[in-house]
Amino acid sequence: MTDERERVQPSGVWATAVGVARVRALESERADALFRDPLAQAFAAAGGLWPSSSPLPDDETARRRRLAVSFSIVIRTKYLDDLLLRASASGVRQVVLLGAGMDSRAFRMDWPEGTRLFEVDTAAPLDFKASVLRQERAVARCERITVAVDLREDWPAALTAAGHDPAAPTVWIAEGLLIYLPEDAVELLLARISTQSAPGSRMGLTLGSRGVIEGIGADAEPGSPASMWVSEMPDDPVGWLAGHGWQADSHTLHERAAAYGRPVSTPPQHEKRPGGLISAVRR
Ligand SMILES: C[S@@+](CC[C@H](N)C(=O)[O-])C[C@H]1O[C@@H](n2cnc3c(N)ncnc32)[C@H](O)[C@@H]1O
Repeated sequence: MTDERERVQPSGVWATAVGVARVRALESERADALFRDPLAQAFAAAGGLWPSSSPLPDDETARRRRLAVSFSIVIRTKYLDDLLLRASASGVRQVVLLGAGMDSRAFRMDWPEGTRLFEVDTAAPLDFKASVLRQERAVARCERITVAVDLREDWPAALTAAGHDPAAPTVWIAEGLLIYLPEDAVELLLARISTQSAPGSRMGLTLGSRGVIEGIGADAEPGSPASMWVSEMPDDPVGWLAGHGWQADSHTLHERAAAYGRPVSTPPQHEKRPGGLISAVRR
């Protein structure tokens, strides 16, 4: 058990999860917030990103890039919150957050009686998260189960051992995750999710829009989230998911942002292609 003094500090790919928390903390302070995440600030502070993070860069391109990433995090969070509410309303009682990071949905959303929520990530971010949750005396609003495993390994076995029932429907969330996995690992992840999904299962994915790695990732600062991006979405995400047995809808960030009252006047070029926000139902 880690306490505050010996808490492991964010590093490598999981440091991105603390950066995401910082964006959610900022959004939560807005009067017109699309969601409120009361734990986000504590995660950001524990990771050294609050109250001050590095200031916005002077360079206009770098500045726009940072704002674009923050914007995408806010919109995708709202999109997936709504997807989870629909899944609960349809009777799904198992939730699996793949690459859960500092996701605090177990604590901030209302869950129907009997909901079991699994958070899957590697051990270091889960330990860090546990120490912040203890410090905040946070109480989950559903049954919350953490599963420390690398998603390139045999995670379905670890998930089942932790109590997941593949015979009952599940809603799967892979938010801000797939872009960090090579394409063969993404294929394997999807195949495994599919074999663990009973009829009635649902899924919410965020994909790296085509061109985003060239446009944003290629010249990103070393160590920044964008510098670790390795995979983009397929040209036809709906067809790709149909091949895995899912009926999917895709949305662009800008289309969803407009629907949420946060329109942006000029979507970047890569946003004109099929969207990076995916909602799917098991066929
Ligand atoms: C950008 S963060 C997003 C976290 C969370 N889904 C959210 O939106 O708040 C990416 C997360 O994926 C996790 N991740 C990346 N590669 C992973 C792997 N191979 N196995 C398990 N987790 C992984 C990282 O540890 C990190 O927590």
